[in-house]
Amino acid sequence: MSSLSVYVTRAIPEAGIAALVGAGVRVRLNPLARSLRPEELREEVGRYDGVVCHLTDRIDETVLTAAAPRCKVFANCAVGTDNFDVAAAAQLGITLTNTPDVLTEATADLAWALLMATARRLGEAERVVRAGAWRGWGMLDFLGVDIHGKTLGIVGAGRIGTAVARRAGGFSMKVLYCDREPMAEIEALGARRVGLVELLETSDFVSLHTPLTEETRHLLDENGMRRMKREAVLINTARGAVVDQTALAEVLREGRIAGAGFDVYENEPLVPPDFLALENVVLLPHIGSATLATRSRMAEIAAENVIAVLRGEPPMNVVTE
Ligand code: DGY
Repeated sequence: MSSLSVYVTRAIPEAGIAALVGAGVRVRLNPLARSLRPEELREEVGRYDGVVCHLTDRIDETVLTAAAPRCKVFANCAVGTDNFDVAAAAQLGITLTNTPDVLTEATADLAWALLMATARRLGEAERVVRAGAWRGWGMLDFLGVDIHGKTLGIVGAGRIGTAVARRAGGFSMKVLYCDREPMAEIEALGARRVGLVELLETSDFVSLHTPLTEETRHLLDENGMRRMKREAVLINTARGAVVDQTALAEVLREGRIAGAGFDVYENEPLVPPDFLALENVVLLPHIGSATLATRSRMAEIAAENVIAVLRGEPPMNVVTE
């Protein structure tokens, strides 16, 4: 494949570059420590046979049109595919791929880290210690909500939602889930399928795990949030736009729910200023899959997907509508 070249839109772990180079592909890496602007991306992509990209690259019709006819594949280093225009790619004969499975466990771990941090007010407590403002132990200080024995509501029982539910066994939690279809794997863990409204009304923790589609955009709206228990905690490690952030800020400000833990936002990297002003919100910078092993494997899989397409073989993870 020595005459083939691949563009990598932003730094990836070395394992991904090594896989491409090992397959005889010439690699060009965006040297900037930022994503390319749409016009910069359009200028690059048509010069390569394939592109390794990120969820921060909007691969829309204009980018795909600029990439064709030479470029045959865009390989996302992500499981999420909401940055892809799948219909336009199909029309132009460009294959789109992603990296499912490999990041399931790391993301489920992070969802739990966020759940626990939010329930037990870790962000707020650590800020007090760092500010030198801790005046010693106090019986009434930093009172959070219990986790063990409570009810966990999983919205979207795919791979990650199911992995989050599996961890709930260690906390003797009851698990509810909602999804379009009954899901055998989560039910084997003892989870019960309910409608979204029942899940919101009865869960102590609500954890979101749906992909972002037109159907799930603002799936959790103000009406839904106001159905949640006052002591409930909301966790979002899926996509920011699954939640109406403006409504959530209002609900949190009113103390209508106990707290929220967010790893993702509707317009990243913009974090709603309203969230920043609230103590009962734990905010992370989209790090669900951010372990060295997981990110390295994601980069390798993206590289393997590109290599397969360029060799005329079926890639592991084709994205279709
Ligand atoms: C994904 O893969 O979609 C996550 O959001 C980042 O790893």
